Amino acid sequence: MDSASGAGDVVNTASEAITVEELSYTYPDGTVALQSLSFRIHVGECFGLIGPNGAGKSTLLLLLNGVIEGPGRVWLLGQSLALFNEQKLPRRMSMVFENPDDQLFMSTVFDDVAFGALNLGLDDNTVRQRVQAALEAVGMEDFAAKPPYHLSLGEKKRVALATVLVMDCEIIALDEPTNGLDPAGREEFIQLLDSLPMTKIIAAHDMELIEQLCDRVAVLDEGKIAAVGPASDILGDEELLRDHKLRCPLTYHRVAKLGG
Ligand SMILES: Nc1ncnc2c1ncn2[C@@H]1O[C@H](COP(=O)(O)OP(=O)(O)OP(=O)(O)O)[C@@H](O)[C@H]1O
Ligand SMILES: [Mg+2]
Repeated sequence: MDSASGAGDVVNTASEAITVEELSYTYPDGTVALQSLSFRIHVGECFGLIGPNGAGKSTLLLLLNGVIEGPGRVWLLGQSLALFNEQKLPRRMSMVFENPDDQLFMSTVFDDVAFGALNLGLDDNTVRQRVQAALEAVGMEDFAAKPPYHLSLGEKKRVALATVLVMDCEIIALDEPTNGLDPAGREEFIQLLDSLPMTKIIAAHDMELIEQLCDRVAVLDEGKIAAVGPASDILGDEELLRDHKLRCPLTYHRVAKLGG
């Protein structure tokens, strides 16, 4: 982040979970991934990010989570992200990566989930309680002793979510959370996400997931926001979606057909 979002820089955002102003990112090889994005996500909101391959969705989530840094200003719950990064403050936002193998690296499920809680400096008892609660929340409490690399993709995705829940962050970001899940597992995972009360930002090609969970949606294309608005407006705009290589959720097609 540039110096404009440095320490002490606070915006008046009692109701804003994420505030982004003119955020850009260019990869070291010169690929321009994001170009001067500005948007706001309200506290408690579930915000969807849709867009074609290469639009910049994953890059944006990495920036918001401080994994990479680029020019622009970002505030999380009114505090500048630069301040979090500079002072290594406890994270108030965490991310579930698209590929759980990027998230799970310890020798047991328990250790992977405990890792984030230990990093918060919690005592052993609290860590144990938090790990148990996080594993129960995702239905994986019987897998604590297993090595993560012995799990199926769906199981790994649940554990990856537990590694984030254990930190009790106010905001979570999820990149393609339903990718690779079977229909029943996908539906269960959507219900699980729906039950989480924190602010969520979800990047996905799964339009039905976006429809089921998101209050507002942004269309990202070529590193810019092409449209942002209530989910029903964006997801019902067939022309907008087609222009950005997307499609309406299936229920919208059915409604359109019924309407003649
Ligand atoms: N490590 C990297 N180095 C160089 N360019 C990259 C790197 N990672 C991503 N990019 C490029 O940045 C752009 C945005 O990629 P990103 O992964 O953010 O898109 P996305 O919207 O998440 O796409 P998808 O829908 O395929 O997941 C693309 O042009 C991509 O090729
Ligand atoms: Mg992506």
